[in-house]
Amino acid sequence: MATEEKYDQETINSKLMIDHDYDGIKELDNPPPPWLMLIFYGTIIWSVFYLFYYHVFDGPTQEDEYNTEMAEAKANMPKNVFDENNIVLLSDAASLAEGEKLFASKACDACHGATNIGPNLTDEYWIHGNKVGEVFKVIKYGVAEKGMTPFKGQMTDKQIQQVTSYILVKMKGAATANTKGPQGDKYE
Ligand code: HEC
Repeated sequence: MATEEKYDQETINSKLMIDHDYDGIKELDNPPPPWLMLIFYGTIIWSVFYLFYYHVFDGPTQEDEYNTEMAEAKANMPKNVFDENNIVLLSDAASLAEGEKLFASKACDACHGATNIGPNLTDEYWIHGNKVGEVFKVIKYGVAEKGMTPFKGQMTDKQIQQVTSYILVKMKGAATANTKGPQGDKYE
């Protein structure tokens, strides 16, 4: 078993003492611990790479990185896949059933059915046209000055598409409590 050497201050000094003497002033050879030296030299080496990468070869700045990340995030955002210019009519049963539910739950039937506040949506007469995009637009943006609520804050575009399809596919010619006479122009 190795016996631990015990040094008193004098022995330590005699072992570490550097062999020179300036007018009685002596110096101990007492280097910092290796881990500290490793960090010290490590940072110097690191700084050389850093300097060349960012300042000589024009590596991306924080601002560049920010812009790249923002662009990526923007590209990954769910896109509004359609608007009134390219919306298509849905005809599958599930979408039409969803549209029917929305027509009741968003109280469309309160004005377009139960009362005569809004125009009859079952006849062939339309104030704003009967194309999918035209109907979609009226529901999405409303006709504020005539009392038609904009629904863009209350329904997603998908939902507006469903209710639009329900109106154009299912309500056409259907009986309704709305007895309001024809309004607008006749569309076949
Ligand atoms: C507060 C009453 C009110 C509610 C609720 C309402 N509407 Fe209307 N809507 C109107 C009025 C009034 C008009 C007529 C606007 C005009 O004269 O330009 C209209 C117009 C429309 C038109 C155009 C009709 C045409 O002849 O061009 C559509 C389509 C329509 N509404 C669908 C809906 C749908 C779908 C909902 C439910 C999501 C809804 N509305 C809820 C009052 C209402």
